[in-house]
Amino acid sequence: MKMTIKELARLASVSVTTVSLVLNDKPSRISELKKEEIKRLAKEYNYEPNLTARNLVTKKSKTIGLLIPDIENLFFSALAKKVEDELRKNGYSLILVNSDDSYKNDLELIKNLESRGVDGLLLTISNESEAHEREYRKLLSRLTIPYVFVDRTFLNENDPQVYFDNQLGGYFATEYLINEGYQRIGCLSAPSSMNGQFRYKGYLKALETFKIPFDDSLVYEGDFRYQSGYEAGNFYKDKNVDAIFASNDLMAYGLIKRLKELGIDVPKDIKIVGYDNLAFSSMLGIDLPSVEQNISDLGSSAVKLLMQLIKQKQTKIKIVLEPVFKR
Ligand code: RIB
Repeated sequence: MKMTIKELARLASVSVTTVSLVLNDKPSRISELKKEEIKRLAKEYNYEPNLTARNLVTKKSKTIGLLIPDIENLFFSALAKKVEDELRKNGYSLILVNSDDSYKNDLELIKNLESRGVDGLLLTISNESEAHEREYRKLLSRLTIPYVFVDRTFLNENDPQVYFDNQLGGYFATEYLINEGYQRIGCLSAPSSMNGQFRYKGYLKALETFKIPFDDSLVYEGDFRYQSGYEAGNFYKDKNVDAIFASNDLMAYGLIKRLKELGIDVPKDIKIVGYDNLAFSSMLGIDLPSVEQNISDLGSSAVKLLMQLIKQKQTKIKIVLEPVFKR
């Protein structure tokens, strides 16, 4: 039978808290002799403290919660992997939860993570939550643990946040197409997300900079998911565009698949560029130039900022990273 902290305390004739203090090498008035006895018994009975036992004294679980909006999107699964690697280097473990881009799930999952005793939160808010900032903040103001917005934020200067300059990314993608000589450039946007809105702004800015007339009939509103990209294929099949900027790679994959089903050659008939530069593109042999958001920088910067906040160290709380266009 697994040795419990309660049984160990009984064997050593001390309290559970005393056992926890000694095994966590916390300062105490316990005699060296008794400390040795407790450590010997723990070793003899292969005692492994569980999370609750350790929390009793340290009040730290050494666990961080990461909330992501779409676990099926390689962007977020790659982010979770990077975050976990960085946390492990800092002696922390990860609890990963997925909101499926639902505001209601966001709030439930944040409450659940706090009740499980995490020491901090990394939050990628769901698209839906961007329209519920006030309620979201009401919950965050009741938290007793620090949080960092990662990748998606409410763009409030007072929030700890790490994200990429999305308008710049949208500008780079469109600028590339213009420099390649394309003139009728569509935008497969994602207006339900602030990131999508800023990428769209970058698209508009590039058209304006290079004096390419804007035609709003060439814009299709997606939602960052594959299916909306696939449906965009039906929209673009007779729009006479020569290029399309897709606001993320997942939508670009759906768009490319549908256009090919309709007998439209990509890139000969329509050139497509994406956003996220997912590893899938090269794995699937898809020619998809894309805006890269370096996930390693995003994950490590977010973890570093959260560690600073947990240690209550003074630190810059707003970090804006620059995307790079990859041909
Ligand atoms: O692909 C999903 C998109 O949503 C990514 O570009 C990322 O920025 C997230 O916000």
